[in-house]
Amino acid sequence: MKKLIVANWKMNPATPREAKELYAKIRKMSLAQTAAEVVICPPAVFLGFLNHKNSSRLSLGVQDIAVHKDAGAFTGSVSASQVRYAGAEYVIIGHSERRIAGDDSEIINTKVKLALAAKLKVILCVGEAERDEHGKYLDILAKQVETALAGVPKGFYKKIIIAYEPVWAVGRVALGADTPAEFLHHKLFIQKIISKLIGGKAAKEVAVLYGGSVNAKNAADFLRQGNADGLLVGRESLRADHFKQIIYEAR
Ligand code: PGA
Repeated sequence: MKKLIVANWKMNPATPREAKELYAKIRKMSLAQTAAEVVICPPAVFLGFLNHKNSSRLSLGVQDIAVHKDAGAFTGSVSASQVRYAGAEYVIIGHSERRIAGDDSEIINTKVKLALAAKLKVILCVGEAERDEHGKYLDILAKQVETALAGVPKGFYKKIIIAYEPVWAVGRVALGADTPAEFLHHKLFIQKIISKLIGGKAAKEVAVLYGGSVNAKNAADFLRQGNADGLLVGRESLRADHFKQIIYEAR
């Protein structure tokens, strides 16, 4: 299976010109390899600037969608179907930075269903804010997975990707990444939770990515030792040379 390397640009870069330049560089490196599908998730307003052509090696996504369907009087919101029309194939849902901004488990579950109904693939972020030595945080992780996927029919799981991101490892003030061995443990745990929802065989086919302080140095270890099905990359996806190295590690 191809590795999925997701670039979460967050609220970057500052201008469409920079977005186009970064996109062009990533496009070139993505099309020059076959081991990974690269997904660029720019700010949604930049989608239309990128002149993207569909390819199995490079796709576009967004970082969130509205909790409302299609269209209506929801000031400031952009719906799943609108981003789909704008060229997105994927959507990140439940990112820790969105959870902090108020997305609770019910909102996340609604967004997952709206995204699937609009034929988007869902990159569902889960992860604990802190870890205790007795493993209580695993209950939190299980709940996050179960509530986000509640009521999703089995047939839709082909379009669900889980990104496991310990919250303390994400973003500018991150305290450091998970270890590949810890990630593998969490991947198996997540697949066990999903197997309770859809059975073991189907659950094994749900890709589990690692995210949080991924860089050119640790990417290979997560993909090999950690057996990650891919990576969700923030900061380092804005630096074309570093991101190239990360894509290269998927080989
Ligand atoms: P980071 O972000 O790579 O900057 O830690 C990861 C993410 O936001 O998913």
